[in-house]
Amino acid sequence: MVTHILVIGSLNMDMEVDVERFPQPGETIISRNFSMSFGGKGANQAVAAARLGGKVSMLGAVGDDEYGTQILTNLARNNIDHTLVKTQKDHSSGKAIITRSRGQNTIMVIPGANHSITEHDLDAASVLIEQVDVLLIQYELPKEVIIKAIKLGHHYNKTVIVNPAPMLSLPQDIRQQVSYFIPNEHEIFSLAQYHTQTPEEIILSCPARMIMTYGEKGVLYSLDQKQVEQLPAPKVNTIDTTGAGDCFCGAFSVFQKTYPLNQAIERAIKASALAVTKPGAQSAMPYLDELSFD
Ligand code: RIB
Ligand code: NA
Repeated sequence: MVTHILVIGSLNMDMEVDVERFPQPGETIISRNFSMSFGGKGANQAVAAARLGGKVSMLGAVGDDEYGTQILTNLARNNIDHTLVKTQKDHSSGKAIITRSRGQNTIMVIPGANHSITEHDLDAASVLIEQVDVLLIQYELPKEVIIKAIKLGHHYNKTVIVNPAPMLSLPQDIRQQVSYFIPNEHEIFSLAQYHTQTPEEIILSCPARMIMTYGEKGVLYSLDQKQVEQLPAPKVNTIDTTGAGDCFCGAFSVFQKTYPLNQAIERAIKASALAVTKPGAQSAMPYLDELSFD
């Protein structure tokens, strides 16, 4: 059975600037290279899921501009149903300014049309929400929309997967309606119950299942809420980590339906290890036949 995933999230055009080192405040430096590619955490996760065999629909918004048209074409090219991606008049498409240096990056997001999504857009999507298996959500839409999306997913008894990025704090009763949280090693602290908790303690005390992506160190998670396990990541030649976490989330959403949790995580780790070996976010998302499993 194919997993049907509805991604409720952002679509951006990424503006990538390559530099020898990051500039200091007040400093001017010369870049080595500039490129543009398709991004946005929501769209990145949608592309990863679609390329790895998921049936993917996306809910979001682009601006009434040239980038918006290109973003929609790119979704279609990746077999993503974009009936629920609206073109918002008087808004620009979302953009991200990404600075890359020696395998590290900084990202500044200009939400544009992404922030025109309202709770009403979710109401209008309830027929589709009822049909899908998974809701996949990140934090690049307005907060009230994120909360409503989680509530609807829970109401319709769907697997609700939340990538809490960028950092945002949600009320406890909403967190309880999430099936899986997938934070990275920084974002996990937004899910702590008190200040001094370690990532391990946060994983064990969270009402939802939590899978923490840990860069080169792989992933931390718990199968039984008693003990924290670590799965390693393969050693790779890292070119660009932009979208690696998104790749993990998209991949996990597909594989969690058909594999036991630890195997689904293992597969998602392999997919994101491949994604960091290529530049860009969506341009680096692997296809199913590129992954080898023993
Ligand atoms: O997670 C990476 C993404 O964050 C980029 O593609 C950028 O658009 C921002 O949304
Ligand atoms: Na990449």
